[in-house]
Amino acid sequence: MIIAIDGPAGSGKSTVAKLVARELGFGYLDTGAMYRAVAQRAIEDKIDLSEPLSEASQAAIRYIAKTETIEFGFTDGEPLPSVVMISNKDVTKQIRTPEVDKAVSPVSADPGVREALTEQQRVIGYSRDTVMEGRDIGTVVFPDADCKVFLTASAEERARRRSLQNAAKVGRDSVTEEEYAAVLADIQRRDAYDSSREHAPLAAAADAWELDSTDMSIEDVVGAIVERVKQKQQA
Ligand code: DC
Repeated sequence: MIIAIDGPAGSGKSTVAKLVARELGFGYLDTGAMYRAVAQRAIEDKIDLSEPLSEASQAAIRYIAKTETIEFGFTDGEPLPSVVMISNKDVTKQIRTPEVDKAVSPVSADPGVREALTEQQRVIGYSRDTVMEGRDIGTVVFPDADCKVFLTASAEERARRRSLQNAAKVGRDSVTEEEYAAVLADIQRRDAYDSSREHAPLAAAADAWELDSTDMSIEDVVGAIVERVKQKQQA
């Protein structure tokens, strides 16, 4: 069974997808981490990612996506994978830097990269029951997914959550106006980019269940999805 959870940056997809996977005992795949891993390798190889991409840059990022294996590992005691590796190198931390946030946009817009990663995602999904999160799972990767959720929230709410998460990582529980504004601007930039790109743009599948989480707690969102999946399992 495949549960597809798509939606824009900061909608709470990752938190929700992980909790749903834990509750159902399913595997979990963060497809954004795969695009990020390719972007990280492109940075390491000093590939010029300014747009429009040159033919040489296109060929180089496609080569990485086609030939390098992306794997997910476990941290001791955790039920879901949280370590991201590309060609056996742990890039878990590097793929969350602002540099990768920027580089991942042109990398994920490339059709050759998408084709290669979509193939890897299908192989993983066919191997076991999986909750898969991304932008195009319900539309392109698994159009026949058993349950499709398109999770949204207002840009302001997403920026509020994301900036608080960033602050929490360095032990703070509040954010400055400037930090919030920078996160909001980045979210708006990524929304516009992901929705307007030519290949597999961010969009809800026609048969997706659109959930606006602006005024919902994480627990409520998870509970609603798990309930729906259980209904499908019984049907
Ligand atoms: O979910 P995320 O922010 O980690 O995703 C990183 C980038 O990868 C984001 O710019 C959108 C892109 N992405 C994509 O194009 N398709 C996916 N299935 C997942 C992510």
